[in-house]
Amino acid sequence: MTDKPYNANSMVAAEFEALLAAAVDAICVIDETGSIMELNAAGERLFGYSRDELRGENVSRLMPEPDRSRHDGYIRHFLTSGERRIIGLGREVRGQRRDGSTFPLHLSVGETPESLKHRRFVGIMRDLTEQKKVEAEARQVQDRLAHVARFSVMGEMAAGLAHEVNQPLSAIVTYAQAGKRLLTGAREVPDDLTEVCEKISEQAQRAGQVIKNLRSFVTKQEVRKDILDMNRTVAEIKTLIDADARAEGILVTLVDEDDLPPVLGDAVQLQQVVVNLTRNAVDAMKRGLRKEEGIEIRTFSRDGKVHLTVTDQGYGVPPQLADSIFHPFVTTKGEGLGVGLAISRTIVLAHGGELSYRPNPAGGSIFGFWLPAHEAQTNE
Ligand SMILES: Nc1ncnc2c1ncn2[C@@H]1O[C@H](COP(=O)(O)OP(=O)(O)OP(=O)(O)O)[C@@H](O)[C@H]1O
Ligand SMILES: [Mg+2]
Repeated sequence: MTDKPYNANSMVAAEFEALLAAAVDAICVIDETGSIMELNAAGERLFGYSRDELRGENVSRLMPEPDRSRHDGYIRHFLTSGERRIIGLGREVRGQRRDGSTFPLHLSVGETPESLKHRRFVGIMRDLTEQKKVEAEARQVQDRLAHVARFSVMGEMAAGLAHEVNQPLSAIVTYAQAGKRLLTGAREVPDDLTEVCEKISEQAQRAGQVIKNLRSFVTKQEVRKDILDMNRTVAEIKTLIDADARAEGILVTLVDEDDLPPVLGDAVQLQQVVVNLTRNAVDAMKRGLRKEEGIEIRTFSRDGKVHLTVTDQGYGVPPQLADSIFHPFVTTKGEGLGVGLAISRTIVLAHGGELSYRPNPAGGSIFGFWLPAHEAQTNE
């Protein structure tokens, strides 16, 4: 050791000061009566008070009711019973700023050892406002996407059903008409029978018409035509995509070209397409060995078209399936419905673009679509 006198207490105090000042989280020290002894700079910013204003004040000033009136009781309860409700656990609570506004915060509390004569509690607080906002936004996007998905699935099913049912209906019409012809000229035919055949034919034709209308309603559904920046449209759902991929330990990189021309369309529907493609990419990679390669979403413009590709290094599409994966209800997944790509293709076509697949030379798949770039209208 050095021969200089060493003062452990002043060392600790100086380090403690530095710690308080450097902490990004708000830190508040109180005594066993709840009086504030210290508040760091982050705490001053968070609550809008200066530390001098708060020194000696009861910490309950920093919380709204009902905690405000109950806080002294919480401390007393802990000191007499030793029961930990927040100490060492951390919890989400509400804080109250100087201007009276309240906000969500994460609070964890530490205590000085019981052996010390004067007990102290240290509260570490982190503002959760931003995190809550992001979570709420992600939930909203998810709700909107779920709605589009349900609607599009209905459309796909209706179109599929129409296709299937139309054939037997035409057959019924043909048979009914043939029956009527056979009855003409036959002897002792009850009058009603010809009429019944006529009715069968009429009703079958009517059912066919209903289905035809349904099909055209589904396929001609108007899409919104907002002027969209694809980069922004994708950025809005990046959190959602990341959450999906991160759950499988996969990183998603967005490579977005600057100065992308705008496109005309419905942002939510196009976001649905990107989510569908990325979910498939995650599915294809999650059990693979090349997860660290990640997924790339890339935007670029070429020849008056705005392109978006989703590249993965997963198991790839078996060549014999390459043509059918865009058809509804084609799936190789136990839990899949097989509608993701069909819906996506319907959406992209309705936007005047094309959705396609090609194998990734590095292994895996590249799914991509293009949309016509929107030329700004000039009135000259
Ligand atoms: N990136 C990909 N890599 C490998 N195969 C893929 C990829 N994307 C799609 N496929 C294949 O195409 C099939 C159809 O995909 P689609 O998204 O339409 O349905 P799904 O993912 O099986 O179910 P869901 O309705 O939940 O989307 C998948 O089951 C899979 O076999
Ligand atoms: Mg899918």
